[in-house]
Amino acid sequence: MPITTLIIPVQRIIPVMDQKAQDLIAAKRAAGFKAADMIQDGMVVGLGTGSTVYYLIERLAERVRDGMQVSGIPTSFQTAIRAREAGIPLTTLDDHPVIDVAVDGADEVDPKLRLIKGRGAAHLREKCVAGAARQFIVVVDEQKMVKNLNAQVPVEVLPFAIMPVMAQLRELECEPVIREAVKKDGPVITDNGNFVVDCKFSAIKNPEKLEAAIAAIPGVVESGLFCGFTKKTTVIVGGIKKCTVIASPDIVT
Ligand code: A5P
Repeated sequence: MPITTLIIPVQRIIPVMDQKAQDLIAAKRAAGFKAADMIQDGMVVGLGTGSTVYYLIERLAERVRDGMQVSGIPTSFQTAIRAREAGIPLTTLDDHPVIDVAVDGADEVDPKLRLIKGRGAAHLREKCVAGAARQFIVVVDEQKMVKNLNAQVPVEVLPFAIMPVMAQLRELECEPVIREAVKKDGPVITDNGNFVVDCKFSAIKNPEKLEAAIAAIPGVVESGLFCGFTKKTTVIVGGIKKCTVIASPDIVT
């Protein structure tokens, strides 16, 4: 057999990532890096969760290796593991009840800088950390910017109360679905030992009102609606060539 017939083109072994996927990664990377470059020496930084924060951690770790001093407060086991492996010193909200800045991703951002979060079921700790921060930096790609919030709203629920919570969520006119795990049979169990219910609303007309209504249900631990932080929020929208920074008018730079 001639030797050439044994050569298999690399593309047939390694699937080539399409251009759209590469652009998305470039956009997330740009946003994550830009946020990391806004962190100042000595800061205590809330470290969000997800595929955009992944790049924040990468760049922050580089800066730590170059001598910058920061302490990170992770919002999930995923982030704690990654940040520790990358060499970013970690601390806790117990030691720092008020922190300089939190950086996190989002599933949707509206023009008033209200968010839906929780695709990765980390929104409870993410909200605690964002709430403790003086500044909140949100890192997203362009696809996340929307006119009206419309994604499904994740709600973390105490397992003991799952059925009454589902019934009361239905009264808010949504279809609640208990999130199923992928490599485990049964429901997703959050880092806090709870269930997550994904709620699809036909329309979210008043996000603040909806966030309050969901929070008022006994057994709800936290929803992925983030409407209370807009005044301290800066959104970095990553693009292939550049990032756009949208700061709340209340932020004095
Ligand atoms: C984690 O539960 C989420 O809140 C994420 O922060 C959010 O879904 C954004 O994640 P990506 O940056 O991976 O899109």
